[in-house]
Amino acid sequence: MTILVAGGAGYIGSHTVRELAREGFDVLVLDNLSSGRRELVAGVPCVEADLLDREALGRIFRDRPIGAVLHFASLIQVGESFANPRKYYTHNLTTSLNLFDAMLEAGTKALIFSSTAAVYGEPETTPIPEDHPTRPANPYGRAKLMVEDILRDYERAHGLRSISLRYFNAAGAALDGTAGECHSPETHLVPNVLLSLLGKAPRLKVFGGDFPTPDGTAVRDYIHVTDLAAAHVLALKRLLAGEAGDVINLGTEAGRSVLEVIRTAEKVTGRPVPYDLAPRRQGDVAVLLASKARAARILGWAPRLSSLETIVESAWNWHRKAV
Ligand SMILES: NC(=O)c1ccc[n+]([C@@H]2O[C@H](COP(=O)([O-])OP(=O)(O)OC[C@H]3O[C@@H](n4cnc5c(N)ncnc54)[C@H](O)[C@@H]3O)[C@@H](O)[C@H]2O)c1
Repeated sequence: MTILVAGGAGYIGSHTVRELAREGFDVLVLDNLSSGRRELVAGVPCVEADLLDREALGRIFRDRPIGAVLHFASLIQVGESFANPRKYYTHNLTTSLNLFDAMLEAGTKALIFSSTAAVYGEPETTPIPEDHPTRPANPYGRAKLMVEDILRDYERAHGLRSISLRYFNAAGAALDGTAGECHSPETHLVPNVLLSLLGKAPRLKVFGGDFPTPDGTAVRDYIHVTDLAAAHVLALKRLLAGEAGDVINLGTEAGRSVLEVIRTAEKVTGRPVPYDLAPRRQGDVAVLLASKARAARILGWAPRLSSLETIVESAWNWHRKAV
């Protein structure tokens, strides 16, 4: 039985492919390589295909028995989703429907879906539990929430069991330095801090210095990508054991501010981070933290590598040689 990993050549997907392989799963990556890199999954079978291509999807499921699917494939830039919602609903919603159709036609009924903290919108409580109201503030988050809703309906009507994992801020790199983050354009804080001190990106812009937080900069919940990957393996095993679908946050409950990330990077690298304060961006909230209670209870999961120091050290190890 093969585990299909859609978007498996991307940042979080490739780290999860490594964890799956380590656990002895037979993995097949499906990726259109729009932002993924084949070398991140070297040695793992990889089909270059797009989830918009229904024929290709049908072939993949006809060619081999697929026991479950992990679905990472999507566009990920919140700002771009405001400018071009059509692109986001096509690439994040239509693609998902195509994948679920192919699964149902083949009788594959277990799925792990990459969802996001963006489904919550402005938090009413912190840390945010999974039953917090969902009011996404951008098309990216709305498309993710629509997919979650579709999956609930598909489980009820078609028996497709799924676990939607709502990630907070994925960061860091494989501890052996062989994989890490390489988005283009890069919109995430940790790589941008490191790339700017390496002179490989412009001076860093810190969006908002007047949030109601201890140092005025936004506080986020950074989770090491290998911790995220480990949670996927636990979620997959749960579905393969026949358990029902679920929605689970993946975060640490520990908030770190933008300035703390900068100071940690300066300590780890011994170099100054060139940065300027800039106005807040539309929709940015002061504090975004995940409740991790459900992940602990349902998956038996706990973050192990998600200290800011480990995140920044591992990312530094990757960025100074790789990008
Ligand atoms: N990075 C984060 O902090 C974060 C936070 C919350 C949620 N997520 C979600 O996690 C998932 C993975 O994010 P990432 O940071 O690894 O992004 P990524 O861009 O590195 O990976 C996405 C992968 O999907 C592939 N892909 C995109 N569209 C495709 C299509 N139509 N057909 C086939 N392949 C396609 C890309 O080539 C890439 O390899 C995404 O669904 C994203 O929304 C990420």
